[in-house]
Amino acid sequence: MSALPAASAAPVTPDRGTPEWSTPSGGVPDKTALAQWWRDSVCYEVYPRSFSDSDGDGTGDLRGVTACLEYLSALGVDAVWITPFYPSPLADAGYDIADHTAVAPELGTLADFDALVLKAHALGLKILVDVVPNHTSDAHPWFRQAVVSAPGSRARQRYMFRPGQGQDGEAPPNDWRSAFGGPAWTRVPEPDGRPGEWYLHLHAPEQPDLNWRDGEVVDDFERILRFWLDHGVDGFRVDVAHTLFKESDLPDAGPGQHQDISRNHLMPYYDLDDLHPLFRQWRALLDRHPARPGAVPPGERLLVAEAAVFDPDRLSRYVGPGEMQQSFNFAFLECPWDAEAMRRVIEGSVAAMAAVDAPVTWVLSSHDAVRPVTRYGGGSTGRRRARAAALLMLALPGAAYVFQGEELGLPQAELPDGRLRDPLWERSGHTDRGRDGCRVPIPWKGGRAPYGFSSAAPEDCWFPQPADWTSLTVEAQHGDSGSMLTLYRTALRIRREHPAPLSGPLTLLGPDDASWLGFDRGSELRCVVNFGPDPVPLDQDDEVLLSSAPVGGRKIPADTTVWVRRRPLR
Ligand code: NOJ
Repeated sequence: MSALPAASAAPVTPDRGTPEWSTPSGGVPDKTALAQWWRDSVCYEVYPRSFSDSDGDGTGDLRGVTACLEYLSALGVDAVWITPFYPSPLADAGYDIADHTAVAPELGTLADFDALVLKAHALGLKILVDVVPNHTSDAHPWFRQAVVSAPGSRARQRYMFRPGQGQDGEAPPNDWRSAFGGPAWTRVPEPDGRPGEWYLHLHAPEQPDLNWRDGEVVDDFERILRFWLDHGVDGFRVDVAHTLFKESDLPDAGPGQHQDISRNHLMPYYDLDDLHPLFRQWRALLDRHPARPGAVPPGERLLVAEAAVFDPDRLSRYVGPGEMQQSFNFAFLECPWDAEAMRRVIEGSVAAMAAVDAPVTWVLSSHDAVRPVTRYGGGSTGRRRARAAALLMLALPGAAYVFQGEELGLPQAELPDGRLRDPLWERSGHTDRGRDGCRVPIPWKGGRAPYGFSSAAPEDCWFPQPADWTSLTVEAQHGDSGSMLTLYRTALRIRREHPAPLSGPLTLLGPDDASWLGFDRGSELRCVVNFGPDPVPLDQDDEVLLSSAPVGGRKIPADTTVWVRRRPLR
C-alpha cells in the first residue's frame, strides 16, 4: 500500500460521505464486549448542561444526550461518562448534589435516564456516572438537618463540624484553604442563634465535606452505588477520590496548599492510606451486585478515580488489585508541549501502572481544564498541536477519555464577566476566571449561535457561544478530510478495527533529549511526534497510516504526529 496522500487524516476505511453525521458505525468489532473492556477503552465525557437541549429551555438535558448517542457511536467511542445530572443548586455546576438518587428536574426524569441507558446499551455504549463522595450540597437534607441540630449530634457526625479556635471560637479550627480560594471553614449560627461551630468545605462553602469515618456515610454511599447499578450503569467516576479522609486531628497544612502540586501528598487531607479499604469495599460491591439486562456483568464494572495525585507510584495505588481499574492521568494533561517532559510522564506512568497491572488512563481535557487548542498556544499553533496530541494519546497503551468538543477542536471560549458561574471567579476576588470557558455548549450545525444546541435564544442558553464557531460545528466538520472531527473518527476507527497493533507493548525510541518522541507498539505500529521546529525524517520504508498534518518529502513537520505502519495491518 502506498502512503496516505499529503492531505492529513484521510480515513483508512474511507468515510463514504454519509449525508448524516449521526450514522452509527456499523460492522466494526465490538471491542467492549470483550473481557476487561476498560483496559483500552475510549470514553467520551458528556457535560449534559452544554451538550444538547431537547426542550428548548437553553439548558442541555438527558433527552438531548439520548438524541445524540448515534453521533457518539459513529465517533467510535466505547463508553460515555455523564457528569452530574442530579438535583443541585449549581453552586459548583452540579458537583454540589442535593439528592444523589434523582435527576435534576431541568435535565429530565429517572425515566429519561433509563431510556438513555437502554439506547446506549443497544448501540454498544457503556454508561458511567459520577459518584461525588467528598461533599454534598449545603441544600442536601443531611446538611440542613445537621445545621439545625446541636453540636455533637448524630446529624452533625455526618459532616466535619468543629469548634473554632480563640476565646470565643471566632477563628477557624485550622489553616486549611478551599480549592476555590479562601478558608476551607465556614461558621454556622447554633439553633439558639449564637455563633457556633465551623464546618469544613475543601471546595465552595455550599459543598460541606462529609465525614468518611462515620458508618452512616459509608452505608449511604453503598446505597447510592446500588441505586445507579439498578438503573443499569456500567461504572462510576469517583470525584476527588483522594480527599475523602482527613487526618483525624485535623492538623494545620502549612503554606502551598492546592498551589504546589508536588506537595499535595503531604497535606493532611490528601491521598491518605485510609482511602484504600473503602475503595476495595466498593469494588467488592460492584463485583457482586446483580446486573441489569444490557449492562456489563458485575465483574466488568468500572471505577475510575479522579485523583489529583501526580506521583505515578502513588496514583497507581488507586488501581491496585481489588480496587479501581482506572485513574485519570492528569500529569499527561498538565504536561507542557515538550518532548522530554512528555517522555518522562509517559515512561513514569506506564511503568507505575504496569507494576499493578493497570492501564494508564490518558486524558487531554475535561470540564475542569483549559481546552487543548488554547492550552497548547491557541490559534493555528494550538490547533496543530492539539491534533498532534490527540494522535499521541490515542496511540499510547491504555484507556483514554475525550471531553465533549475536544473532537471538534474547540478553543476555550471567552465569556463576559456577568455570565461566569464557576465559584473560582467570586472566591478568587475576580482574578481567576475559572473553568467555564470549556463548558460552553457544543456547536452542532448552522451559521450562528446556538448552532443547533438549543431552540432557545442565544442569550437564554446555559453559556453564550462565540460568534465565530460556524466552521467548528459537527455539520461543518463532517466529511471534511482535514477536520479535527475526521481525525478523531479515523484514529478511533483504526483503534477499533485494528486492535492488535495498538495492543502491542510500548518501546520508546530515540535519545532522551531529542525534540521528537517516538515509540513502537509491538512490531507493527510506530508513532512519532515532532515537538520541535525542525522536520524529522521518516525511515525509507515507513508508510504513513495517519498523520495530524500533511507530511511532505518524507519529513514530519513541526508539531505533527504520524502513525506509521511497519507491516501490513491484519
Ligand atoms: C472535581 C470536578 O471535576 C470539579 O468540576 C468539581 O468542582 C470538584 N471535583 C468538586 O466536586
